Amino acid sequence: EGSDKPPGNKWSFSGPFGKYDRGALQRGLKVYKEVCASCHGLSYIAFRNLAEDGGPGYSVAQAAAFASEYKVKDGPNDSGDMFERPGRPADYFPSPFPNEQAARAANGGAAPPDLSLITKARSYGRGFPMFIVDFFTQYQEQGPDYVSAVLQGFDDHVPEGVTIPEGSYYNKYFPGHAIKMPKPLSDGQVTYDDGSPATVAQYAKDVTTFLMWTAEPHMEARKRLGFQVFIFLIIFAGLMYFTKKKVWADSH
Ligand code: HEM
Repeated sequence: EGSDKPPGNKWSFSGPFGKYDRGALQRGLKVYKEVCASCHGLSYIAFRNLAEDGGPGYSVAQAAAFASEYKVKDGPNDSGDMFERPGRPADYFPSPFPNEQAARAANGGAAPPDLSLITKARSYGRGFPMFIVDFFTQYQEQGPDYVSAVLQGFDDHVPEGVTIPEGSYYNKYFPGHAIKMPKPLSDGQVTYDDGSPATVAQYAKDVTTFLMWTAEPHMEARKRLGFQVFIFLIIFAGLMYFTKKKVWADSH
């Protein structure tokens, strides 16, 4: 069940002071919407989240406008019928398939997983001694490295000794190499309006950053608080030291 080790990337969000790159989040949302959303849900994310602190940085009005481009199922209404209406900020991203069976049937037997938490789901233990690093970084970069690698790991040229069954595709980084997701990204597929390169590498980086945010929407606040706790503890340790000196000053 071999697969190649995903290459490491420089992510803006890594490390104790890491932050999301707002441009990457906005571009990644566009890639998700235009490419991934036809097969993968994002069911834990509501449109209103797009306007929250630490996210892609949209205003409430922009999030509402974005939501209104979607058709959302609602009902039953007073006459007992289900109906469709434009999305509102409180709605969650609609899923592409009504249920898992339909998702499987449309994808050769493999249901495309919901992407809300995929960057967390695909973290893995690296054993001694790296688990120490993993513990402190909360496996932060493994999931994103893997997701970005899978998106770039397709190759028409299948290496010798690897057999890919009908309906599967060769992928360098997918465990077992045979994946039922067709190569989703190609150069020029999504138009960026900020001058970023329209390449598979850039799309993969942006959509992965976006999916890291969907899995960890409060990461920036959490890191900020963590840092403040450290500062507090250092000051508190100093206070305790001088207090101790004073209290025990007369003892011999
Ligand atoms: C699986 C991401 C587009 C169909 C996956 C996985 C990821 C992913 C991370 C999980 C791999 C794993 O289990 O380790 C994305 C992203 C996309 C995208 C970011 C957009 C850029 C698509 C599209 C389709 C699709 C357009 C359908 C045409 C599938 C299927 C699987 C899958 C069927 C399950 C594969 C298997 O278990 O063999 N995708 N995907 N994906 N995706 Fe996508």
